[in-house]
Amino acid sequence: MTWFTVALVLVVAAAGLLRWRRPAWYWLTFGVTLASLRVLVRYASVMDACGLTVPPARWRLALARMANREVPQSRPPRILRIRPTRTGLVLRLGLRPGQDAFDVAASADRLRHSFALYGVTSRELRSGVVEVRMTGYDVLRRVQMPAKTDARPMRVPVALREDGSVHYRDYRTVPHGLTLGATESGKSVYQRNLVAGLASLDVALVGIDCKQGVELFPLARRFSALADNPDTALALLEALVTHMEDVYQLIRANQRITVNVPDAEIAADIWDLPDDLRPVPVVVLVDEVAELALFASKDDEKRRDRIITALVRLAQLGRAAGIYLEICGQRFGSELGKGITMLRAQLTGRTAHRVNDESSANMAFGDIAPDAVLAAIQIPTDTPGIAVTGDASGGWSRIRAPHTSLREAVNICNKHAERTPELPALAAFRPAVAPLPPARVPLSKTAPATA
Ligand SMILES: Nc1ncnc2c1ncn2[C@@H]1O[C@H](COP(=O)(O)OP(=O)(O)OP(=O)(O)O)[C@@H](O)[C@H]1O
Ligand SMILES: [Mg+2]
Repeated sequence: MTWFTVALVLVVAAAGLLRWRRPAWYWLTFGVTLASLRVLVRYASVMDACGLTVPPARWRLALARMANREVPQSRPPRILRIRPTRTGLVLRLGLRPGQDAFDVAASADRLRHSFALYGVTSRELRSGVVEVRMTGYDVLRRVQMPAKTDARPMRVPVALREDGSVHYRDYRTVPHGLTLGATESGKSVYQRNLVAGLASLDVALVGIDCKQGVELFPLARRFSALADNPDTALALLEALVTHMEDVYQLIRANQRITVNVPDAEIAADIWDLPDDLRPVPVVVLVDEVAELALFASKDDEKRRDRIITALVRLAQLGRAAGIYLEICGQRFGSELGKGITMLRAQLTGRTAHRVNDESSANMAFGDIAPDAVLAAIQIPTDTPGIAVTGDASGGWSRIRAPHTSLREAVNICNKHAERTPELPALAAFRPAVAPLPPARVPLSKTAPATA
């Protein structure tokens, strides 16, 4: 008996320690079972308390009255499926007549407290079916990306959402992106994660880093072109516009529409071209974009206008030529001069890290999701990397990228250095890097050590 008590105390202590120090491990060991039981046992009473039940159907009442039986109880939504995940539980609910998805969304906070879980979000899957995602702990406190993600061409897992799902940056559906945030809010780390994700794909990376190159130049081995000041940036962007025009010529040359060509084979962008002809897609990363738009003299102003014009052209026409823009900055509004709001309107994917004032958040979300503006202002200073991002459905969610250090990103880029494509149009901007030291030859019979 005493041994049993000791074992029980040890298990409870271990669970408590895990819950405190390693919530993710706690969830996988104890949390998931306890939470599933809690949800299933308390389900009917919690739904009733949260006002998510409907009165029994009339015919049931009539039947009960006729048979002189107990009056049937109100019915909660049907549980269609309960699925434990790495970070929480996913419930699929079938709504009763008279209920709507908004009822569930409005009760999310009450459900969270009643089931003693960390976060609850819901979305409608189809008419009458709602998915409720619950997380067991604060997944954004220490971001751990799942080992297996749904990899596709031009789609990189870049952060974790607060509901525990992976946030992807998908260049095929959202070609251009804008990332805003105050200083030290985590923009460069987010961009570094993107580079690390893109490094293993067949894509050319082009970087413009006006912070004298401190963020992107260490990753130079995987970059096909880099610029660290506005003058080089201008030449680079104009070279990219020329490259884009060449790609369009290539697409046109391959269209040759005749009656014999099946509809599916008519090319209007690079992805319709056959694999052997397709030019490599290019992702252009710009850090500290305001540096490109500021000017002090008349000459600077001319350069600035040309830079913004080139960026606007790339944003307008780049998608079909496989040129994608990823722009980072602290603010990106009309005070940076003409052309900026026009460029911003082309940047569909919006992400805002912590901002200091409403007007900066408005630059990201003012025109698409007003409640996301509030969420971006509320991000606390002590959690760099937390951001609000718009999603494909027009809603928004809170995300955080894993804390990839510059060293880790450099290692990933060096590992994939041989993937770096040579773009003839951008050859002049290829960063000069020393070749990597050869991998150490193992001392074996086939490769004898030389003296
Ligand atoms: N996702 C994250 N998780 C944990 N810590 C982070 C994360 N992102 C950023 N940080 C921390 O915040 C610091 C600042 O991040 P970062 O350099 O990306 O900011 P920034 O927005 O680019 O700032 P600046 O505008 O000055 O360039 C980093 O050194 C890192 O310690
Ligand atoms: Mg930065």
